[in-house]
Amino acid sequence: MNIDFYNHGGNIDNEARELGVQPKNIIDASASIVPFKIPKKLSDNLIKTIKNGSIRSYPDRSFFEVKSAISKWHNIDPSMILPGNGASELFTWAARDASLYGMSSLPSPGFGDYQRALRCWNAPYIHSPLPLAWNTKKPQPFPIDPKTKVLWITNPHNPTGQLWSRSSLKSLLASYELVICDEAFISLTPGGENQSLIDLTKKHSNLIVIRSLTKFLGIAGLRIGYAVTNSERLLKWREIRDPWPMNTLAINATNLIMKNSILHKKRLNKIHKWVEEEGYWLHKNLSDFSTLKPLPSATNFQLIKSNSSTLNIIEKLKKRGILLRDCRSFINLGEDWFRISLLKRKQNIKIINTLKNYIS
Ligand SMILES: Cc1ncc(COP(=O)(O)O)c(C=O)c1O
Repeated sequence: MNIDFYNHGGNIDNEARELGVQPKNIIDASASIVPFKIPKKLSDNLIKTIKNGSIRSYPDRSFFEVKSAISKWHNIDPSMILPGNGASELFTWAARDASLYGMSSLPSPGFGDYQRALRCWNAPYIHSPLPLAWNTKKPQPFPIDPKTKVLWITNPHNPTGQLWSRSSLKSLLASYELVICDEAFISLTPGGENQSLIDLTKKHSNLIVIRSLTKFLGIAGLRIGYAVTNSERLLKWREIRDPWPMNTLAINATNLIMKNSILHKKRLNKIHKWVEEEGYWLHKNLSDFSTLKPLPSATNFQLIKSNSSTLNIIEKLKKRGILLRDCRSFINLGEDWFRISLLKRKQNIKIINTLKNYIS
């Protein structure tokens, strides 16, 4: 198997091809996307966008309506918002700014895409090890303060599921030329929003917060994210980025979810309940294996330490159509770690029962 730092879960089409099955028959616990269908109003909106001919024209380059919709949801001035083609596209621009200041710290193990983004600009970075021991899923202090110009934070952290406390992050802002905080999972995390740094962008021009609609809406294929930071920084990004980085379907979908606060809140409440219930259930059932130690997680995935290599088990489950996240591509983790994303109860039971065939 080819392991690189850009390795990502959720390659359902590839895996299905290899196994000779339909993608719909795969149980994918490798990518952390909620297992619920997209809201009907949203799918209707996408169909309408195609049927009414809106995609004949170029999307609005000023993002006027979508910026205003996001700004109302977060109570942030529209000039401080830039929507993009998923959070990943915006990491590329944040990394450009990081390259102007100097060395970046990447808390590790961490999300691999920041490395890709930094490499675009030949920006230097170091891996700053995170201690791999904690005993709570509640907000906890950010444990490191590396001496670099730029700090990348993921809140909650991937792959550990730790939720960092806002107060500990806030106190870091004075120590760095630039802090980039990826909040891709924060809205689907129960209590996560209380730890968000979004409103601090109003006072701290050295802070960039990046959000994604991918995870909680289950729309990885649509590609929607946005950055919140000072408006001058965003004007510079706009001068050099592609002319139409966000398509009309994505723009209309964002408008719908950001303007319809009842639908938006209903979706988040449903997800929070599911994260609480299934998170508890999975953690408890994984703890029953004498050779596994699931670490406490605030969000919709759990990192698990095994007594020995898990490669064989991951491969065996894969042959049975169940994908777990092999953690070898994460710096500072090895083959005795794996990550499971929460699914619906029926699928979670299937994962646990299948694991029982191979471990004690
Ligand atoms: C921490 C983190 N941030 C961002 C992303 C990507 O978000 P998007 O789909 O909006 O590019 C992922 C995807 O796995 C992720 O794990």
